[in-house]
Amino acid sequence: MRSLLFVPGDSPRKMEKASTSGADALILDLEDSVSPSRKAEAREHVAKFVAGAERTFPAPRLIVRVNALDTGLTDDDLTAVIGARPDAVLLPKAGSGADIQDLGARIAVVEAEAGLSDGCVLIHALMTETAAGLLQAGSFAGKSKRLSALAWGAEDLAADIGATSNKDESGHYTDVFTMARSLTLLAAAQSGVEAVDTVFTDFRDMQALKLECQAAVRDGFSGKMAIHPDQVPVINAAFTPAAEDVERAIKILALFAAAGPDAGVLSLEGKMIDKPHLRQAERIARRAGLDPATLPAMEDVDGE
Ligand code: COA
Ligand code: MG
Repeated sequence: MRSLLFVPGDSPRKMEKASTSGADALILDLEDSVSPSRKAEAREHVAKFVAGAERTFPAPRLIVRVNALDTGLTDDDLTAVIGARPDAVLLPKAGSGADIQDLGARIAVVEAEAGLSDGCVLIHALMTETAAGLLQAGSFAGKSKRLSALAWGAEDLAADIGATSNKDESGHYTDVFTMARSLTLLAAAQSGVEAVDTVFTDFRDMQALKLECQAAVRDGFSGKMAIHPDQVPVINAAFTPAAEDVERAIKILALFAAAGPDAGVLSLEGKMIDKPHLRQAERIARRAGLDPATLPAMEDVDGE
């Protein structure tokens, strides 16, 4: 997923508008963008929207951000929305891998009650919104098969640590926040899940957004969260891999597929390729939205 657009869950108008934004995923929010007095109403709007939405590709994937586990609101959120079968639940303020296990168990119960197959609703987590989550970055791996993406957030972390700003005078993230960003990349790699870059809040400044996207692509993020529909095309363009990179990734995947599971080092166009190249090729193919089943047969690939 390249772009993941946040939409306040209490706004059916914005949900409709978001559907045609071109975003790869919508994050239907029940948390911070919805005031406490509107949570119940927002749950109903989100459940109705998910139940009625077009779900086949290229329709956006639907992710529901629930309230954090320590709010006492999470179970009511899950009960209201899981039956509509969102693709994933986004957990804010995840404090450790144990929170992922906890959420996974809660989802399993509601999934079963709704007659859905076990594990069909995935988990995404915001893992840097609290000091605890950051310090436990290594604990997210291997806790739940549902975990499919880790994202970072800078606003809540500033509040948690008492920072008056997350950026310095020249607009760059300060140390703690660049560390949060780096730990998200590392934790996602360790877990074998997608790393998702944080929102860019100045939603009128497209040039600065573009630069932040380019840095995110360079550093290994597979997508970025958005807060405004105008940000979506900029994010999609930045995270769509170049045609020649996709072509090369397809060649690498085909070479490894033909070489079988014991493949070690191979060569392509006079250059050595090994496992890290394969992983990189897989990432590029995923970002290009390729289905491995459609990859070319080996004879179409010009190996050496
Ligand atoms: N999803 C869908 N539609 C959105 C949208 C979003 N995230 N943000 C704006 N729009 C719509 C507006 O409703 C408006 O539609 P309209 O012309 O039909 O009324 C249009 O896009 C233009 O919006 P604009 O006037 O430029 O912005 P705004 O002042 O209405 O909204 C925000 C600004 C920040 C309030 C809004 O972008 C927003 O709600 N963002 C998401 C916030 C969020 O979910 N935060 C939680 C995670 S950090
Ligand atoms: Mg928040």
